[in-house]
Amino acid sequence: MKHTLHVLMVEDNENDALLVKRELEKGGYSLIATVVQTAQDMRAALAEGTWELILSDYRMPQFNGIEALRIVKESGKDIPFIIISGVIGENVAVEAMKLGAHDYIIKGKLSRLVPAVEREMREAMLRKERALSDKAVYESERRYRQLIETAYEGILTVDECGVVTLANKRISDMLGFKAGEITGKRIEKSIPEHCKDRYSSAIGLCLKGYVQRFEAEMLRKNMESVPVSMGISPLLDDTDMVIGYLAVITDITQQRQMEREREQIRAELVQADKMAAIGQLVAGIAHELNNPLAVIVGNVQYMQKETSLPELKDIFCEVEQAAQRCKKLVADLLEFSRKKDMELRDCDCNDIVEHALYLASYQNDFSDIEVIRRFEKDLPLIKASRHHLEQVFLNIISNAVHAMGTRGKLTICTVFSSEDDFIEIQFTDTGKGMTSETLIRIFEPFFTTKAKGTGLGLLVSYNIIRQHSGTLQAYSKGHGEGSRFVVKLPVDKSQERGLSHG
Ligand SMILES: Nc1ncnc2c1ncn2[C@@H]1O[C@H](COP(=O)(O)OP(=O)(O)O)[C@@H](O)[C@H]1O
Ligand SMILES: [Mg+2]
Repeated sequence: MKHTLHVLMVEDNENDALLVKRELEKGGYSLIATVVQTAQDMRAALAEGTWELILSDYRMPQFNGIEALRIVKESGKDIPFIIISGVIGENVAVEAMKLGAHDYIIKGKLSRLVPAVEREMREAMLRKERALSDKAVYESERRYRQLIETAYEGILTVDECGVVTLANKRISDMLGFKAGEITGKRIEKSIPEHCKDRYSSAIGLCLKGYVQRFEAEMLRKNMESVPVSMGISPLLDDTDMVIGYLAVITDITQQRQMEREREQIRAELVQADKMAAIGQLVAGIAHELNNPLAVIVGNVQYMQKETSLPELKDIFCEVEQAAQRCKKLVADLLEFSRKKDMELRDCDCNDIVEHALYLASYQNDFSDIEVIRRFEKDLPLIKASRHHLEQVFLNIISNAVHAMGTRGKLTICTVFSSEDDFIEIQFTDTGKGMTSETLIRIFEPFFTTKAKGTGLGLLVSYNIIRQHSGTLQAYSKGHGEGSRFVVKLPVDKSQERGLSHG
């Protein structure tokens, strides 16, 4: 079958054009040909048609082959261009070839035309195929680069000497570098000292061909460390030789944080469980001890009265004191383990503090202790269990008196803060104060530094204040520096200020 060839001919001589056409037809081509003679016509023809071949005369009255070549160049089209000329000097031929002509043929030797056309058509086809495949390679490279750049994970490639050869945006962000700043750097600069062994053993295995996954840390540009999870796999060349590795890196800061929080919640739950178990046990024992203790106290009081022997009286007195201490402990334990609802009523804190001081004066020796009251007038009322708050204040005052021994100054302030709607009651003493070791343990059950203490007073107080949605905090600058206990209780917003009778 004849191949149809679209030819653009640049030729002023009709006879010559005819000869060329015949030669091609003889070679088995059927032609669709257009002949042009000027630059203008040539441009128009190039713009309008699809040409497989351009045959151009070299010298014409208004146009020439070199100019025709330039016009093809301008158009950006890759079309085989063959010069056909009467006589052509070698210099001109070389210049034409330099400018991009594919061949030149002397009009007297047209027999060379068909083989030249065939060859040029083949070459043009190859060029077209190559361009297509180059474009495909470029496209696929672009797609891979995009995949790497938009990946959620940090991606690095590292050569076998440990130099980073590629780094995506995510890893640059993760480590605080600008784009392109990591490439060319040694990877070990981003590995903290304590992770280096682990890292190099993983890399060693990877370079032997094994994929590795592990958790480690990396250093940011500012030398902060980031916890990461890292997957590394070997990179191979065409001959399957390992030439480095690919690292896919995930920042696990948030994951670590969540694990820590979970661990903390778990520990708190365990502690709460333990407290509940102790509470039950304690309540059971305390309850069982109550009756026998009442028997002991009752009987020993009776015996104290009945005996006339002074030594026995002393002994009974000691027994009674010991039994009373046990009763106090049992009462504290029962209070601690009791979960009954508290009855909340409108209360005036100044009143409650005053009453707690009154009760404390019965239990403690206040003779050389100066009590300074700085009560804010017209405190708003709070919804509270009066009896329980009294117990809290009594505990705090008793502790202060114990800490001061025979002399000292106890300052009690009450303040209302309208900013956060809380009443603050501060108890400041000039007693022996607390070391930081003591301070962190005072709310633990049974923690006491006193020979006769129960270590429950502050724990009970803390729980009562918590049940009132308040806070109880202790402060001391150290041994011999005195202490301050601060109770904060929320004011019921619906209460009007000034209803109190303080
Ligand atoms: N005002 C205070 N000054 C110094 N230490 C105090 C004060 N209040 C409490 N503490 C310390 O807290 C510990 C626990 O107090 P608490 O729970 O009331 O038990 P207890 O009074 O039976 O020891 C005390 O033993 C003491 O070491
Ligand atoms: Mg106490």
